[in-house]
Amino acid sequence: MPVLSNIGALARCPPAGPADDAGVIRNAALAWEGATLRWVGPESDLPAEFAGWPRHDAGDRLVIPGLVDCHTHLAFAGWRADEFSLRARGASYLEIAAVGGGIASTVAKTRAATAEELEARCVTHLGEMARLGITTVEAKSGYGLTLEHELRLLEVYRRLAGGAQRIVSTLLAAHIVPVEFRDRRGDYVDLIEKEMIPRVAREGLARFCDVFVEESAFTREEARRILTVARRHGLAAKLHADQITAGGGAELAAELGAASADHLEKISEAGIRAMAAAGVVAVSLPFASLYLGVGALPARKLIEAGVPVAVATDFNPGSAPSYHLPMALTLACTMQRMTPAEALRGATVVAARALRLDWEIGSLEPGKSADFAVIEADSVEQWLYHLRPNACVWTVARGREIWRAMAASAQG
Ligand code: NIG
Ligand code: FE
Repeated sequence: MPVLSNIGALARCPPAGPADDAGVIRNAALAWEGATLRWVGPESDLPAEFAGWPRHDAGDRLVIPGLVDCHTHLAFAGWRADEFSLRARGASYLEIAAVGGGIASTVAKTRAATAEELEARCVTHLGEMARLGITTVEAKSGYGLTLEHELRLLEVYRRLAGGAQRIVSTLLAAHIVPVEFRDRRGDYVDLIEKEMIPRVAREGLARFCDVFVEESAFTREEARRILTVARRHGLAAKLHADQITAGGGAELAAELGAASADHLEKISEAGIRAMAAAGVVAVSLPFASLYLGVGALPARKLIEAGVPVAVATDFNPGSAPSYHLPMALTLACTMQRMTPAEALRGATVVAARALRLDWEIGSLEPGKSADFAVIEADSVEQWLYHLRPNACVWTVARGREIWRAMAASAQG
């Protein structure tokens, strides 16, 4: 039953707070028991019952809720540095996809890898993410695209869920139409609806179903069909929407009551209004905007319209080859004009909402999961402004240390 004391600034990120308020308490402490937070507040108010508990010294640093990366494509084989270089020479993402590069090339490599290889790579990535303060990771399938290969990716995630971080799985069989179905795409949509979704739901392998709505991927009508079937099987909807071209994905997300619509660089005014009315979370993915040069998500417009904006990495080998979520937050501030407090809320409490887990994670309040990170900075602003390789010195997930770079100081 430990206490973390001498916290210079504690950013609680309460669910009900305004977008621009991280709920900071100065000179704070927090106490947890097992996997659950018991008490959070100014250190001078620490109740006597916690006085004898073992103490950890935060060293006057910033403490934030464990970061929630609510959009990743965690399991894949190989990389695509060749395409990074082709894009620098002027080829576009859609042109590369049209000649069999892009997602299709990662699908081929991922199918050829063993489950053990895929899992070992994920473990490495998750370990690096723990060092950055990330305690929850949403992980999509989408590089298998056969029943067998999609199940294999989701089974890797199920095994990883027993590890350091909380893993939330999403079926993304509708990532692209695989080459073997190129001339009969309707059959692939049927396969997703009739075999993949029912099997994944029956085996409890995913909470969400996602569809990439784009010229190179699926149409709005196909997405509507797939996500309606998914909902019938208990999988909530997510969408890759309005990223490279405006496809009405945001409007569809609102119509379906999706948990989130992600990307949205090309969202329409009507899409913004529809998402606000339906309470759909917008997930901003600044790395993908940056790497593909598709402009930035209009965060100010969304926030002013009342749409909650989350920020995630989109970690994948094509459009976003990084899991550095704190850096994505800095980019959200510079490219999208989100304030540091908005960005932090976007990767904690709002991201938790995009995963429908805001009752459990994303904020520092009694009763929530004991997930937090100690950051070498004196404020949220200083942390996101001074871009460094890693400012996180201690990460605790579900009450357990998963990364430490600060001096051990438990006493009592
Ligand atoms: O979110 N947009 C679709 N999926 C990924 C890209 C995946 C890839 O290029 O491998 C994204 O950007
Ligand atoms: Fe993505």
